[in-house]
Amino acid sequence: MEPALDHASEGSNVADTKHRNGERLQTVIIGGGVCGLAIGWQLAEAGQQVTLLERERCGQAATHAAAGMLAAAAECEPGEEQLLQLTRWAQELWPTFLDRLEAASGLRPDYRDEGTLVVALNRDEVDRLRFRHDFQSALGLPLQWLEGREVREREPHLRQSAAAAIYSLEDHQVDNRQLAEGLKRAFVNAGGELREHTEVAALDCPEDSAKRIHLANGEVLQAEHLVLAAGAWTRGLPGLPDAAKPPVRPLKGQSLALQMDPAAPLLEHVLWTEQVYCVPRRDGRLIIGATVEERGFDDSVTAGGLYALIEGARRALPGIEDLPLLESWSGFRPGCRDDAPVLGSTPVPGLHLATGHHRNGILLAPVTGHCLAEQILTGEMPEAARPFSLARFKPRSTNRKKPLLQSA
Ligand code: FAD
Ligand code: GLY
Repeated sequence: MEPALDHASEGSNVADTKHRNGERLQTVIIGGGVCGLAIGWQLAEAGQQVTLLERERCGQAATHAAAGMLAAAAECEPGEEQLLQLTRWAQELWPTFLDRLEAASGLRPDYRDEGTLVVALNRDEVDRLRFRHDFQSALGLPLQWLEGREVREREPHLRQSAAAAIYSLEDHQVDNRQLAEGLKRAFVNAGGELREHTEVAALDCPEDSAKRIHLANGEVLQAEHLVLAAGAWTRGLPGLPDAAKPPVRPLKGQSLALQMDPAAPLLEHVLWTEQVYCVPRRDGRLIIGATVEERGFDDSVTAGGLYALIEGARRALPGIEDLPLLESWSGFRPGCRDDAPVLGSTPVPGLHLATGHHRNGILLAPVTGHCLAEQILTGEMPEAARPFSLARFKPRSTNRKKPLLQSA
């Protein structure tokens, strides 16, 4: 049962349109993470009237916790060939997206294009790495196989036993925290209305009229289009009709950052081992991530989590032992049943989803913004995003066909 909402709120606390030339809000977006901000910016730039509601400050949830890897290849697992089309498209869009963002916000998030090394740290790991290389190369990914000596030439601080690596040329990285700030500025500069510290308490989503958004402060907004981009919290928004609920849950990730000497960093490329990834920022921060845990919304940072990360990173880069610990944190990936995002319309007209980005939300920011804006402006999703609609989770029909001939 959906929670019932008070439809008698037609009166004075309905803050829809009266102070907006008698019109309803065109689009309301719930969630000021990378997804909500990217969509809001595209729509505001296209001249739409957009209001974005964020219960805290923008970009402080999963978007803050991320490592900023744009890792279409390093993240690609067997069975994810369709998702790869979306993630590779995102990689193509990134350079122009950055230029546009800089022009729109005056801020260019730090972007590094040295590429990614996925290493085998001993002979046992080489066979598994070779399998991965062959699988990913067959998908057309631009990869190079490096022998141990070649890997250590590129990264001299790697453990001497490093036996081989896949060098993924087009898996770059961006500073995700700067990205969130840039998107926020671009959205506001384009005329978007940003309401931080504004929590949505409940939704009322009739099929044939404006959506109502009940705020925790008692205000009620109305919107023609409502975009749910509340990350791991999207499914739990009170009042969301069952038919529009995405199968999304929180997948906890713990990470930490060490401080390297920026003039003499221990690492230049993004590095993956079988246990951890290490992401070197230009300012000397070395991000080490991340656990993947099914623990609901438990946000604790644990000794076990940090130990596993440090031990995993030390196996690859023994020199980290001397680095000061800067920060540790946790965040919630919005993980979908099939690890792919849910993008676009729902069975409720005017209600749209942008969630389930799991491990790739930063990478997919340009695609998410573009696709949801297209959906709202034209009613059509770009081709590459169509397989990622909510409709893919429709329950199979249980109606069996009657046999043509009944046996006596
Ligand atoms: P979020 O950033 O979580 O934003 C959702 C927002 O909705 C929040 O700000 C929240 O406050 C708001 N909200 C929720 N409920 C309400 C409400 N009722 N009212 C108002 N506001 C509400 N991706 C990559 O591409 N590369 C990486 O290297 C990478 N590394 C990661 C490492 C870790 C440890 C984690 C946890 C994730 C990582 N990700 C990475 C995944 C990426 O961070 C996410 O996919 C992405 O940030 C999801 O963005 P979002 O906007 O959907 O969600
Ligand atoms: N994409 C890295 C992570 O989710 O941990």
